[in-house]
Amino acid sequence: MNLSKFDLSNKSAIITGAAGLLGYEHAYALLECNAKVILTDIDEKKLLETQKNLEKVFNSSQILSYKLDVTSLDSILNLCKILREKKIDINILINNAAIDPKVQEGNEVELTRLENFPLNQWNKELAVGLTGPFLCSKVFGHEMALHNKGGVIINIASDLSIIAPDQRLYKKNDTQEKNQPVKPITYSVIKSGLIGLTKYLATYWPNNNIRCNALSPGGVYQNQNEDFHNKIKNLIPLQRMADKEEYRSSIQFLCSEASSYMNGHNLIIDGGRTII
Ligand SMILES: NC(=O)c1ccc[n+]([C@@H]2O[C@H](COP(=O)([O-])OP(=O)(O)OC[C@H]3O[C@@H](n4cnc5c(N)ncnc54)[C@H](O)[C@@H]3O)[C@@H](O)[C@H]2O)c1
Repeated sequence: MNLSKFDLSNKSAIITGAAGLLGYEHAYALLECNAKVILTDIDEKKLLETQKNLEKVFNSSQILSYKLDVTSLDSILNLCKILREKKIDINILINNAAIDPKVQEGNEVELTRLENFPLNQWNKELAVGLTGPFLCSKVFGHEMALHNKGGVIINIASDLSIIAPDQRLYKKNDTQEKNQPVKPITYSVIKSGLIGLTKYLATYWPNNNIRCNALSPGGVYQNQNEDFHNKIKNLIPLQRMADKEEYRSSIQFLCSEASSYMNGHNLIIDGGRTII
């Protein structure tokens, strides 16, 4: 088998939210294909830890990291300037950063519920999950077009980009219906919105060979409580959540010439959850 289409030597990739659970995996996947990775995150401490962990496995010359707030155009333009000065052309952008709001115990009202969901929380989550990919694509997609050497943009969506959340998964025993926690509305709106963004970007630079696809992962196993795990298993034909490493090969495919004719697609890797 000819694996050279997966080779990313001399390619540079920006990953947003790189200090999180899947950000590390995306970086690992790209480094395995010989890309240079530019890890970015708003959390500088976690970012440096991620860089150190990757440097235990891969050559440190292939790994850079910069603090970046995807909600701030100034922050993005500043990184763009730094990379220009270093003569690093961006070939790949992975829009991965997101806010995963944790259920807060002890509130009198259940804030995840639509009727209680705070407007400022909506604004905060959309700013990271949807405005962030817009701003990063605007700046780095334009850079790719200027270099005219092609490019790849990947938006990390979710199985919930194409199905509604099953709110039974989040139900707590001994809790009144009006206080039951739910998957917040923002998650569905952001992830569906990313599919629209993907299609828009896939057609935006027709003369520059810039492809844009979405990756829609299903839930990753992360020591969720047994009740949740048992409930979600029943919704997934493979009867389990994903291991965090299981998305690496999709990233390698989507970011390389192995997917050279794939554009505007939403690659759903979810153990089959969304087919039933
Ligand atoms: N983990 C899963 O089960 C799962 C499933 C489906 C989709 N996803 C999606 O995959 C992506 C990564 O998920 P994860 O589990 O690694 O999340 P995570 O919470 O572990 O990581 C997200 C990262 O984004 C960073 N971030 C937050 N605000 C930012 C900002 N303003 N600017 C830059 N970075 C910011 C955080 O600091 C964090 O490191 C997300 O888009 C998520 O919705 C995750």
